[in-house]
Amino acid sequence: MKLKTFGMTATGIALALGVGLTATLSVGQMAPFGNEEDTSYAASLWTAMVDANMAGDGAIRTLPYKGIEPHGFVLETFYTKATIDGHTGDLVIKRNYGPEGVSVEQAQENGVEHLAAITVMFKREDGYDAENKNWFWAKYLPDGSLDKNPAGMQLAGRVVKGNDTAGCIACHAAEDDYLFTTNAIK
Ligand code: HEC
Repeated sequence: MKLKTFGMTATGIALALGVGLTATLSVGQMAPFGNEEDTSYAASLWTAMVDANMAGDGAIRTLPYKGIEPHGFVLETFYTKATIDGHTGDLVIKRNYGPEGVSVEQAQENGVEHLAAITVMFKREDGYDAENKNWFWAKYLPDGSLDKNPAGMQLAGRVVKGNDTAGCIACHAAEDDYLFTTNAIK
């Protein structure tokens, strides 16, 4: 384990994870996430996860553990690979259980009821986002649809490239490989 402790306030965390994921964009500029290409890629990734028994009914379970904000109070983390459109890459899946105060036992006994979100990092092809190690980011709800930020943008793609204070990339950039829980994936 190589987890760092965050000295962030609850508000800072909420801002970082969900609220305010709006990049400042000039008119006509493509957002770095939430576009048609991103959401359709996210849909393919979800299908690959369901096919691999990593999501959906009958998904493989592990022993959950007490989590760190912002992801959730109880977590499960999986490391695997997936192939999307002919490209095979590392896939890291985090199941986030809630609500606040949920115990590891409750999440284990009733995973369906307590599952709040599934956050995913998938290593895409070189050049997808070389600056950020080519990770594709997505936040799904348990039914496989994408969660949205307050501006209504779906959380899939380069979330939020160019924003140094909020979003998946800004926080995960604290680690060279963008991964908090492992050094095994480069
Ligand atoms: C404020 C910081 C922060 C933000 C924002 C954040 N994460 Fe994380 N993330 C973490 C921490 C800390 C962990 C390690 C949690 C653990 O398992 O104990 C983590 C773990 C993960 C993991 C498991 C791989 C790893 O890094 O160990 C995935 C996948 C993940 N996050 C996806 C996302 C996605 C997708 C988003 C955006 C929707 C996001 N994260 C936003 C802090 C953050």
